[in-house]
Amino acid sequence: MAEPNPADQIRQDFAPPQVPVEDAARAMEAFALGHHSEARRVVLITSGGTKVPLESRTVRFLDNFSSGRRGAASAEYFLQAGYAVIFLHRHRSLYPYSRRYAATNWLDVLRLQLPGDGAPRVEAEQSRLPGIVQVLQDYSRMKESGRLLSIEFNTLSDYLHLLLAAAQALSRLGSSAMFYLAAAVSDFYIPASEIPEHKIQSSSGPLQITMKMVPKMLSPLVKDWAPKAFVISFKLETDKEILIERARKALATYRHQVVVANILDTLRGHVVVVTGTEETKLSISDEEERSGVEIEEKIIKDLTLRHTQFMEGTAAN
Ligand code: PMT
Repeated sequence: MAEPNPADQIRQDFAPPQVPVEDAARAMEAFALGHHSEARRVVLITSGGTKVPLESRTVRFLDNFSSGRRGAASAEYFLQAGYAVIFLHRHRSLYPYSRRYAATNWLDVLRLQLPGDGAPRVEAEQSRLPGIVQVLQDYSRMKESGRLLSIEFNTLSDYLHLLLAAAQALSRLGSSAMFYLAAAVSDFYIPASEIPEHKIQSSSGPLQITMKMVPKMLSPLVKDWAPKAFVISFKLETDKEILIERARKALATYRHQVVVANILDTLRGHVVVVTGTEETKLSISDEEERSGVEIEEKIIKDLTLRHTQFMEGTAAN
C-alpha cells in the first residue's frame, strides 16, 4: 500500500488546530517574502515541547521537558547575525530577551512609590535584573528592525499544521531559507478518530492507551516542501554512546544538511555539529560559563558560516 502523503495525514488524522493557522500562514509568507526582497536571510526556529491531548475535551495530556531555552537564545543570536527570524514556539515557553527573567517574581522587583503630591508610580529595582540595560537596548533595536515574527503553538496538531504552513511560506526563498528545528516534538499521538471525547474515568481501572507514531516532518520538508533550504535538525539522547550514530542515521535518512546532537545532562555546555563529512564539538569552558557565554552563540556562529557555504555551493551549481 502507498505511504500516506504527510500533509494529507496531518489534515485528516490530527484534531483540528486550536490556533489560527491561515492567519499565521499569511503573516509568515508576507514576512518571508518581504525580508527576502531586501536580500536578508530568513530562519524558521521551532522551539519548546508539544502537548498531546488524551481526551478531545482535554483534561489530561502528554508533554515533555523542553523549556524553549535553546530556541529563544538561538533567536537572539540569529537576529544579531542579521537574519530575519520566524520564532515558532510553544505558548508560554521561553521567549527571546525576556527568557533571562523568566524565573523572576516581578512583585519582588517592582516597587510602589506613593508620592504625597502625585499619582502612585511603579519603579523597578534594577540590581535584581542583571544585564537589563543591554537587554532592553537589544530588544528595542530588534523591535524597530521588524526582524522577529512570533507564532505560537500549543498542541502537537498546532505544531504540525504551522510547520507545514511555514515550509510553504519559505519555499520560494531557495537556499537563503534556513530551518532550525530545535523543538522537542512528540513521537506519539492518538488519531482524531480514536480519541475519547470526555475525561477518561479512573473508575474504569488502569489506563492502557495505544498511540500511533507521528510522521517525521523532516522527510517531506526536505524532499517536497522546501527542497532548496538549509535544514538543521536536533538530536537529543540520554546515552552518549549512541548519540553520534543516531545523528548520522538521521542525516542518512532525511538527507538534510546538519544535525546538532546533544545529551540531556550536558545540553547547555556541549553539542556536536554533525554533517555528512565532519563532526565539530562545541563547548563552553568554566571560564566562559562564568562570564555568561552561551553555547547557542557558538552554534549560531558555526551554522551561519555553513549556511553561507551552502548558499555559495548552490549558486555555483
Ligand atoms: O528547549 P530546551 O529545554 O532548551 O531543550 C532543547 C532541546 C534539548 C529540546 C533541543 O536542543 C533538542 O535536542 N531538540 C530535539 C529533540 C529530539 O531529539 O527530537 P527528535 O529526535 O524527536 O526529532 C529529531 C528532529 O526532527 C528534531 O529536530 C525535531 O524538531 C524534528 N521532528 C521531530 C518529530 C516530528 N514529527 N517531526 C520533526 O520534524
